[in-house]
Amino acid sequence: MRGASQPWLVRCDDGASYVVKFQNNPQHARVLANEMLASRLAQRIGLPVASPAFVEVSGALLGSSPHLIFELGERREPILPGTQFGSRFPGVPSETLVVDFLPDRLLRRVANLSAAFLGAFVFDKWTCNCDGRQVIFHRRADETGAAYSVTMIDQGFCFNDGEWTFPDSPLRGLYPRRLVYEKVRGMESFEPFLTRVENLAMDELEECVRGIPDKWCEPYPHELAQLMIALYARRFAVRQAIIDARNSVLAPFPNWH
Ligand SMILES: Nc1ncnc2c1ncn2[C@@H]1O[C@H](COP(=O)(O)OP(=O)(O)O)[C@@H](O)[C@H]1O
Ligand SMILES: [Mg+2]
Repeated sequence: MRGASQPWLVRCDDGASYVVKFQNNPQHARVLANEMLASRLAQRIGLPVASPAFVEVSGALLGSSPHLIFELGERREPILPGTQFGSRFPGVPSETLVVDFLPDRLLRRVANLSAAFLGAFVFDKWTCNCDGRQVIFHRRADETGAAYSVTMIDQGFCFNDGEWTFPDSPLRGLYPRRLVYEKVRGMESFEPFLTRVENLAMDELEECVRGIPDKWCEPYPHELAQLMIALYARRFAVRQAIIDARNSVLAPFPNWH
């Protein structure tokens, strides 16, 4: 697949396909922890996010697939076996059309467009996603003319990549296509996601880190516990972050009166 972490589309033995990011990817091992934690949190608040999974990639598979390798300029770097992160592909690849961008005409027809993007905005503010919001649009390839569905992907830079800090900025997290925010009329437009974030209990957050390997959290795995505490405390900062975005020079919500 494209992408700086050099992920691969892999068919797994549960019969589904996953876009897999590897522990020793060219970005950071914590990208895998971020993906797993953030995808589970997004699921908890009811957002349409690609289902996350642990994917075991064996040395035997890598040994028999010489093309499975990282390309770093002129250099080649082997992919290391072990537990990797998988983001579930929405259907059977040969029967599914997946695109990263849609022209306005098709974007307007996406089912649940504002709920997905307004919910994602709440989420990206909360988790301080330091990358632009990324989604995929998909539909069955044989349903010509059918509306696309939207699914959130790439949570790798939530919590500021490998830093696990929150450098908040009013301009962060906005999707570059402003028509997705046309329906915003006020703070209530971000419901029910805003209240769901605020109402999350600590044990619900803790469930979302279950099974995340220490190797995904290096060099300091114990910082994962601190990250949870910071996220818990930040739940009530989201409202103000939305107001700051509204008042920013980008004025992203023209219909908020
Ligand atoms: N769950 C998924 N289903 C289908 N395609 C996906 C999925 N996740 C990622 N992709 C595709 O793979 C590309 C790279 O994935 P991404 O998560 O953005 O990687 P990176 O972290 O390297 O930017 C995306 O632009 C998208 O086209
Ligand atoms: Mg990406």
